[in-house]
Amino acid sequence: EKGTYPHYMLKEIDEQPSVIRNIVSAYTNAAGELSIDEAIVNAFKEADRLYIIAAGTSLHAGLIGQQYMEKVAGIPTEVHISSEFGYNMPLLSKKPLFLFITQSGETADSRQVLVKIKALGYPTITMTNVPGSTLSREADHTLMLHAGPEIAVASTKAYTAQVAVLAITADVVAKAFGRSVAFDLKQELSIAANAIQTLVDSKEEMETIARDFLATSRNAFFIGRNMDYYVSLEGALKLKEISYIQAEGFAGGELKHGTIALIEEGTPVITLVTQKQVSLNIRGNVKEVVARGANPCILSMEGMEEEDDRFVLPKVHELLTPLVSVLPLQLISYYAALHRGCDVDKPRNLAKSVTVE
Ligand code: F6R
Repeated sequence: EKGTYPHYMLKEIDEQPSVIRNIVSAYTNAAGELSIDEAIVNAFKEADRLYIIAAGTSLHAGLIGQQYMEKVAGIPTEVHISSEFGYNMPLLSKKPLFLFITQSGETADSRQVLVKIKALGYPTITMTNVPGSTLSREADHTLMLHAGPEIAVASTKAYTAQVAVLAITADVVAKAFGRSVAFDLKQELSIAANAIQTLVDSKEEMETIARDFLATSRNAFFIGRNMDYYVSLEGALKLKEISYIQAEGFAGGELKHGTIALIEEGTPVITLVTQKQVSLNIRGNVKEVVARGANPCILSMEGMEEEDDRFVLPKVHELLTPLVSVLPLQLISYYAALHRGCDVDKPRNLAKSVTVE
């Protein structure tokens, strides 16, 4: 039920702080520590490489998950587009473990890979929001998202849930491997939930940004580096699917290798600056596009902000920035679509679960 909300998408965006809190409590054991199913931990122990298989927004969450698995848990990880993987399978490691990320648990492209992988006898996990869904039933193990039903076609709360559950999985597996984790993830997730709340409460600013940058534009670019690059991909997908504005997400350094030719007077370039290590580099990329007439909208993280930045995101742990940086992008897309009179919850040509390959 969307209650007093005009759209499910806005309701689901608003639910994100409580989704993160629910996830933390669902994955906390009696001793008060983060934990996941022991059988899943064992599957990680037996594997030498993780293969994440997903589509669309879930694929974008998978890219963040790869960072968590490699940096926190030390597990070599690859991320693959499900529709490609079936006929273009890479050489697999000796002991591969497969993680299917699928909000609906019904995506045919992902399922065809699961069927092939099962036939090869490799272990499988499905991370899904829908208990009893096809991929959940068919995989060896399930990691639940606990995000509650997602009705809007554009995925929002499932993405943040996926990122949070991936972080928890990496944290738990790291500890099971005896690796020291330098931060308290439970506490950092609670800080992130509060930060998300601040952003949910900043809707008016996001509506103004959408009006100022996207009301009449034909296209838009989203740029970032490191984690911000992956979130840029998600921001562009959100904008495309509900507002029909041609949008692309790019790694900041990659624009100059061709795409910068598309920058014209007034082209919106939405830029994320949350990664300290590369903040100077991404700001350099903004200068490059501004010199060609772009209209930059910089969203930076507290502690890294500069005078002309359009919005400052509340500070969270560097690994968890996707949980907060995606929020403005979701809201900006929502308002851009609304201003253009689009059907936000049911964009043209799209279905909530894609059951054809
Ligand atoms: C985008 C969106 C799609 C889905 C994709 C995968 O907002 O909703 O890109 O993320 O179709 O769906 P699931 O996660 O159900 O496998």
